[in-house]
Amino acid sequence: MLTCSVIGATSFTGGELIRILARHPYVQIGCLTTRSDDGGYARDLVPLLGKENTLKTEKFNFKKVARNSDVVFLTLPHTQAMKVAGDFYDRGKLVIDLSSDFRLKQVRLYEKWYGAHHPRKQLLKKAVYGLPEVYRDQIRKTNLIANPGCYPTGALLGIYPLVRQKVIELDSIVIDSKSGVSGAGKKLSPGTQFCEVAENFAAYKVNRHQHTPEIEQVLSEAADENVQVTFVPHLLPVNRGILSTIYVRRKPKVKKERLVNAFQELADAEPFVKFLGCDRFPALRDVQHTNFCDIGISVDADSERVIVITAIDNLLKGASGQAVQNMNIRMGFPEDAGLVG
Ligand SMILES: NC(=O)c1ccc[n+]([C@@H]2O[C@H](COP(=O)([O-])OP(=O)(O)OC[C@H]3O[C@@H](n4cnc5c(N)ncnc54)[C@H](OP(=O)(O)O)[C@@H]3O)[C@@H](O)[C@H]2O)c1
Repeated sequence: MLTCSVIGATSFTGGELIRILARHPYVQIGCLTTRSDDGGYARDLVPLLGKENTLKTEKFNFKKVARNSDVVFLTLPHTQAMKVAGDFYDRGKLVIDLSSDFRLKQVRLYEKWYGAHHPRKQLLKKAVYGLPEVYRDQIRKTNLIANPGCYPTGALLGIYPLVRQKVIELDSIVIDSKSGVSGAGKKLSPGTQFCEVAENFAAYKVNRHQHTPEIEQVLSEAADENVQVTFVPHLLPVNRGILSTIYVRRKPKVKKERLVNAFQELADAEPFVKFLGCDRFPALRDVQHTNFCDIGISVDADSERVIVITAIDNLLKGASGQAVQNMNIRMGFPEDAGLVG
């Protein structure tokens, strides 16, 4: 049995990890840590564990976690994860970081978008971006997985197949995403209070959201040239889920069938991608509490306009589900172990 610990276990994503790992057939839970001196029962965070479950959260202690873990999941805020990720990596642990601290390859971009110095910048090149649909072969070989952001996961799965097949104009990509409020984490902020969110709907960080460079990095690698996108996130008054509506222009003479086939091929190859076909579109309800990304497409017969709509659960395919999917790939477990059934 592989032993997995969660650092930042009281987080939204930590709770989802505890739930998945507790039922995973090939792993056991080691440490569940918090900054607090008063650890509590994990069952109070995750009632699904049952009333007799004795797992507890405990104050973070690096040596204890290192001694008791094969895999360390970090569900800390960005700039906090990088303080411990490298030390666990140096001790030979498989580190799966759900924060954004190791997603960007260029330290210059990290410092620009996150406004913080990166103390382990040499590790940025070693980290593998944990989007299995793009980087599965590299994920199999690394001990540092930078789990993708929630918005980038939904956006990239709707664009990457088209970029890889060279069927769209690279300067035409517009991503309009709407996220449930759990995407903002547990910390209190004025913009995510109930009275601000309920019965409301608004864009935020228009054209300046920190997930933009991550999306551009993956698409630029796939296209082998610099790709820039327009990305506008919105806050939806729901708990969980991200719906992304993506607008692109197909290249002249590219037929509808080629676009459809690009997604069909992806869905045929990928255990957690479902393609609904032409003119059928996903809703949040289809993917909430699952690790799936559902995709639909519309191809305008009278113009080059193509619209792709994707839906994911931000806490699962956008975070903890994908993190376990990455662990399964790295450890050679069935890719869906703990994630379906
Ligand atoms: N929410 C999502 O949909 C989502 C999706 C993808 C990725 N992510 C990323 O995954 C990470 C966790 O996200 P989340 O939304 O689950 O977080 P969260 O609910 O806001 O919780 C973060 C946890 O980290 C601990 N923490 C907070 N400040 C800290 C500090 N200064 N130093 C050390 N520990 C601190 C807290 O635990 P204690 O107070 O108990 O110590 C807290 O429970 C973030 O980096 C986030 O960007 C989130």
